[in-house]
Amino acid sequence: MRVLFFFATLSLVSAENGLDGWLRYAPLPYNDQKLPAHIVVLNTTEASPVYVAGAELQNGLKGIYGTHAEVSHEQCENSSSAAIVGTVEQYQIACGSLNGVPELDEDGFWLSTWGNKVQILGQNERGALYGAFEYLSMLAQGNFSEVSYASNPSAAIRWVNQWDNMDGSIERGYGGSSIFFKNGAVVDDLSRVTQYARLLASARINAAVVNNVNANATLLDQENMKGLGRIADALRPYGVQIGISLNFASPETLGGLDTFDPLDSSVIKWWSNITDQIYQRVPDMAGYLVKANSEGQPGPLTYNRTLAQGANLFAKALHPYGGIVMFRAFVYNQLNESNWKADRAKAAMEFKYLDGEFEENVVLQIKYGPIDFQVREPTSPLFANLFNTSTAIELEVTQEYLGQQSHLVYLPPLWKTVLDFDLRVDHKPSLVRDIITGRRFNRKLGGSAAVVNVGSNTTWLGGHLSMSNLYAYGRLAWDPADDSQSILQDWIRLTFGLDRTVLDTITQMSMESWPAYENYTGNLGIQTLTDILYTHYGPNPASQDNNGWGQWTRADHTTIGMDRTVSNGTGFSGQYPTEIAAMYENIDTTPDNLLLWFHHVNYTHRLHSGKTVIQHFYDAHYSGVETAQTFLVQWDSLKGKIDDERHKAVRRQLDYQTGHSIIWRDAINDFYYNLSGIPDALNRVGHHPWRIEAESMLLDGYKQYTVNPFETAAKSIAIVTISNDTVGTATTRLNFPSETYDLVVNYYDLYGGQSRWQIYLNGKQVGEWLGNSENTFSHTPSIYLDGHSATRIKFRGVKINKGDTLKIVGTPDGVEPAPLDYVAFLPQGVID
Ligand SMILES: *[C@@H]1O[C@H](CO)[C@@H](O)[C@H](O)[C@H]1NC(C)=O
Ligand SMILES: *[C@@H]1O[C@H](CO)[C@@H](O)[C@H](O)[C@H]1NC(C)=O
Ligand SMILES: *[C@@H]1O[C@H](CO)[C@@H](O)[C@H](O)[C@H]1NC(C)=O
Ligand SMILES: *[C@@H]1O[C@H](CO)[C@@H](O)[C@H](O)[C@H]1NC(C)=O
Ligand SMILES: *[C@@H]1O[C@H](CO)[C@@H](O)[C@H](O)[C@H]1NC(C)=O
Ligand SMILES: *[C@@H]1O[C@H](CO)[C@@H](O)[C@H](O)[C@H]1NC(C)=O
Ligand SMILES: *[C@@H]1O[C@H](CO)[C@@H](O)[C@H](O)[C@H]1NC(C)=O
Ligand SMILES: *[C@@H]1O[C@H](CO)[C@@H](O)[C@H](O)[C@H]1NC(C)=O
Ligand SMILES: *[C@@H]1O[C@H](CO)[C@@H](O)[C@H](O)[C@H]1NC(C)=O
Ligand SMILES: *[C@@H]1O[C@H](CO)[C@@H](O)[C@H](O)[C@H]1NC(C)=O
Ligand SMILES: *[C@@H]1O[C@H](CO)[C@@H](O)[C@H](O)[C@H]1NC(C)=O
Ligand SMILES: *[C@@H]1O[C@H](CO)[C@@H](O)[C@H](O)[C@H]1NC(C)=O
Repeated sequence: MRVLFFFATLSLVSAENGLDGWLRYAPLPYNDQKLPAHIVVLNTTEASPVYVAGAELQNGLKGIYGTHAEVSHEQCENSSSAAIVGTVEQYQIACGSLNGVPELDEDGFWLSTWGNKVQILGQNERGALYGAFEYLSMLAQGNFSEVSYASNPSAAIRWVNQWDNMDGSIERGYGGSSIFFKNGAVVDDLSRVTQYARLLASARINAAVVNNVNANATLLDQENMKGLGRIADALRPYGVQIGISLNFASPETLGGLDTFDPLDSSVIKWWSNITDQIYQRVPDMAGYLVKANSEGQPGPLTYNRTLAQGANLFAKALHPYGGIVMFRAFVYNQLNESNWKADRAKAAMEFKYLDGEFEENVVLQIKYGPIDFQVREPTSPLFANLFNTSTAIELEVTQEYLGQQSHLVYLPPLWKTVLDFDLRVDHKPSLVRDIITGRRFNRKLGGSAAVVNVGSNTTWLGGHLSMSNLYAYGRLAWDPADDSQSILQDWIRLTFGLDRTVLDTITQMSMESWPAYENYTGNLGIQTLTDILYTHYGPNPASQDNNGWGQWTRADHTTIGMDRTVSNGTGFSGQYPTEIAAMYENIDTTPDNLLLWFHHVNYTHRLHSGKTVIQHFYDAHYSGVETAQTFLVQWDSLKGKIDDERHKAVRRQLDYQTGHSIIWRDAINDFYYNLSGIPDALNRVGHHPWRIEAESMLLDGYKQYTVNPFETAAKSIAIVTISNDTVGTATTRLNFPSETYDLVVNYYDLYGGQSRWQIYLNGKQVGEWLGNSENTFSHTPSIYLDGHSATRIKFRGVKINKGDTLKIVGTPDGVEPAPLDYVAFLPQGVID
């Protein structure tokens, strides 16, 4: 019978490195629950998702409750204490008729529990596996409700995109190198790919595009095609299909043809040959992802063919196999900012004029906003302009413009601003989530794709807390009407256990994280004010303007914002259906949080909140930083309630974010103060009474260095060693009242060296650190002194007496000249 287990001392879980994500099956302190004593698995093929579901159930029961449930593949089992898993059809063959189970959609499942009898039935094998994960999720959360329900996906397309390059690097990836490719080929050991498939399946994701949208044609050579077959074999037991990104010019670059014109018969033949060859190795390939005529990628426009003709080339090749083409709507050209009406946000609308020209198996993959994964964007109006074309929304789990996993940012509240947005097409309810699922315009295909970019790091994404975004993406792709916070809480319980304080604390931190990040990076719809020409990480507002990329702010000495009105601006607001167009056209009805997206205003323009634009900038940057400071404090309160390994790793990251949020705040505020000349009403901006500039100290072996962009160094000057084999010292006498302070140092941590800094008070060392964040943090490192490399370190509780001598010794390494910006002595409660 059932083995009873009692976990008398539920010692905190052993060290964890994150590899299992939310599928840890950590022991729970319950002993009297009715659990199935054995598991009947209605398929004996080891590589089948149903078989995998059986093994997963067995492992889960063992991990969570310490029970051993025997697995059998016998005929139907009628005992009252079994879990049975299979497809509806397998069940009917094995067990006879099935009552009370509604018709399921493709990939849907039925889950029913009463006592220790459990029924998990999928519409297909994949659905059965989803049902098993659902049941395990309940068990792992200590939920023993008796349930009986069917769950069906909102849409068939629930894909992830990996921007992995053949050389093993990952474009916009922050979690290590590729788990798929290395040195131009598919890696030999695909065990991480299998583990990834398990996570994806548990989030009900059914396909993964494995290579970068900026695709390399060598993926299609003979060796790599075999490799793709192996990848597909590794994913298939979990019901995850593969897709691949194609390079439009492949017939020329790889095939040796003298053209890649999509209407040329040799090109058509070449692609159908390639497609045939792939399907020989991967009979269930999901399809192709194509980025064409965008950001330098080749495409049909080269031959004066339409984007639809380009997409249809692949659609026709895939059609016999049931594959689909995900065609990215991310197209734009370089623009001239001196043209007031030029607007990159308008570019994707060219697809409106192709509506109806795409084959049935083409789906347009549309980014949530019209620019590029910014911290806030209005909904892409393209969703409201395609009635005869299938669409999918493109989201980003990898935090490209949003902190690169070094900042905590829980993304679903941002995604929901778009998914739940009502575009009012024809004055009828037209939620984006109903458009992408095909309901609103009666399309058969549709769904979601997210750029994920997991890598070889054991945390997958580069940080434990970032995994909530991957989990939540899957849940929202299944049901975009689901609630961000309740999804988050399932993830927290699965990832960190059932402690109420842990649940409440991580919920609060996560739910505040995106609003805080928006506050200290770019608010009022001005976009993430990051360096768009370099790493997309730290602050650099000037990089948005005076170039052809079209992510402009049009900020000058008196005004800021893009005039996207029809009446006087770019006309972008006119791309929306009339009710929405009218709302954005009128400055009085435009919400404050998108004001600068749609209107060009004076810094002194008053918001609905009553504040001026510039004062809102200052205040929001201060509030965002204050919120970010609470994350570390909140996390520290969980020490002992979470295993030390993960607690420490997350703590390091939050400690870093605490400092980097202040670097963001000061850079943005100083930049706009400098530009507008309008002071902060609260007198904070430019006033830092507890700081000492490094360049004001007595320097030996150090020299001044003018930082670019200027706002990423206090007073625009830092110090660097005079050469990379000279140790520098900076010395000063302290004039602050005798007191205990937190000592902060703002330095620059560059790629290409690991400088060492030591800090002394009256000759006694009080701190020491290394500039090694390029090896220890997830974000893209920088080779310059700038807003990416600027870093703050804090030493708590340092007692000083007025007149003490402070000395910092910097030992350069490689190209990193031990750079320093300032030190600060912060009295209790002062954040600066
Ligand atoms: C078992 O699974 C394999 C692989 O998924 C599938 O081909 C086969 O049809 C399944 N068997 C039954 C009896 O459903
Ligand atoms: C299982 O039990 C049901 C009634 O509870 C019965 O109708 C069915 O024949 C049994 N199946 C087998 C295979 O014993
Ligand atoms: C338990 O799971 C069921 C089914 O998923 C759900 O409806 C219910 O809200 C859960 N209960 C708790 C306390 O989470
Ligand atoms: C494509 O891959 C090949 C083989 O790995 C490599 O030599 C080439 O540089 C890559 N091309 C691009 C544009 O990255
Ligand atoms: C397809 O391409 C392969 C490899 O290049 C070649 O050997 C084969 O002849 C081609 N088949 C057709 C039908 O063109
Ligand atoms: C491109 O195609 C359009 C319409 O199909 C035609 O009017 C135009 O002349 C073509 N341009 C060139 C350069 O072939
Ligand atoms: C942008 O347009 C202005 C005015 O028409 C012109 O002077 C300038 O050269 C253009 N800049 C570029 C980069 O084309
Ligand atoms: C209208 O557009 C012009 C540029 O063409 C701009 O200078 C002006 O500020 C705009 N007027 C208003 C009221 O926004
Ligand atoms: C900015 O303020 C000035 C002076 O009050 C006014 O003339 C101008 O129209 C305003 N500009 C915008 C874009 O609102
Ligand atoms: C963001 O800034 C606004 C304006 O200062 C403030 O009201 C709000 O509380 C801030 N939110 C967070 C989460 O920091
Ligand atoms: C994983 O990423 C974190 C953050 O970038 C880093 O500190 C850690 O060393 C990485 N671990 C591995 C095994 O790559
Ligand atoms: C010192 O810096 C120079 C130029 O920045 C660099 O070329 C050289 O390799 C560095 N020396 C060392 C020992 O790294």
